[in-house]
Amino acid sequence: MSDAPDSPDITPAAVDAALDAALAAIAGATTTAELKAARGAHSAEGSPLAKLNAQLRNVPNDRKAEFGKLIGQARGRVTQALAAREEELAAAETAARLEAERVDITALGQHARVGARHPISLLQEEVADIFVGMGWEIAEGPELEHEWFNFDALNFDEDHPARQMQDTFFVDPVARHLVMRTHTSPVQVRSMLERDLPIYVLCPGRVYRTDEYDATHLPVFTQFEGLVVDKGITMANLKGTLDHAAKVLFGAEAKTRFRTNYFPFTEPSAELDLWHPTFKGGAQWIEWGGCGMVNPNVLRAAGIDPEVYSGFAFGMGIERTLMFRSDVQDMRDMAEGDVRFSEQFGMVV
Ligand code: DAH
Repeated sequence: MSDAPDSPDITPAAVDAALDAALAAIAGATTTAELKAARGAHSAEGSPLAKLNAQLRNVPNDRKAEFGKLIGQARGRVTQALAAREEELAAAETAARLEAERVDITALGQHARVGARHPISLLQEEVADIFVGMGWEIAEGPELEHEWFNFDALNFDEDHPARQMQDTFFVDPVARHLVMRTHTSPVQVRSMLERDLPIYVLCPGRVYRTDEYDATHLPVFTQFEGLVVDKGITMANLKGTLDHAAKVLFGAEAKTRFRTNYFPFTEPSAELDLWHPTFKGGAQWIEWGGCGMVNPNVLRAAGIDPEVYSGFAFGMGIERTLMFRSDVQDMRDMAEGDVRFSEQFGMVV
């Protein structure tokens, strides 16, 4: 390396000045990046102290040791200061990063509350299982139904009171003859038209009536409908089927009885009572639903020859069944969706 004519002569003052500048830059560095810059400017090749060091060769031999020591000590202090500051800054940066990444492991996590299946859905599935267990199929139909399926094909007179505005939700425009189905019985007709004989179907689903919303009525509720059409079907088959369902749902002592009644779509028709052995107020007969032998007019409407085939049908309300099975006092609890109500029936998912 050639002599640098513009370099300052080595003097204690020049070494002190270079050292002071280096220490001030090191102390002033507040990040490892700034410290790196200070190292470049005050300790590396080309820094004032390095330049002073390079001038040692110009110093007369008898003073080389003296100045060598002066510069060596200064460079040593710079190296030390760099190392100490580096450690400080690294510790501070680690502390800052840890603080930024702090996780409170004692904080309550966010977890979704597990809900409960609605008891109406559960009972509906329980009922479906009974019939699927006997080899029946599940049939479904639309809730927005044509008047023909809901009434005409089921042998309702033109002026049957159930067609009146106070019972049925007619859908605008009335000329299209669409109604919110008032029962699941239209699925009987759809099943007879769509399926091959013999037919063994259970039709659960939602139905609509212009009823008041009170403790024992809901304008939207759930029914299950059963339909069998086969050769040689009698009322004994109907009775045996219903007794079986009653025992599965209400215990071995349960049974059913028929009381004569009228439905346009069955002949003969019966009101269906259930002997409820574990009823809250003591074992007793409870009105459960309607049933009967499929009216030949209904079979004919679906293109089935009543001379060859006969069938039975029944229909029950799920909400009503849940009410007297689980001692629910107010049907509105089943409509309001409060999880505290559902939880009482178990957390079945
Ligand atoms: N559809 C009737 C109702 O909603 C219930 C019913 C009665 C269904 C007799 C039937 C039956 O299948 O045979 O009130």
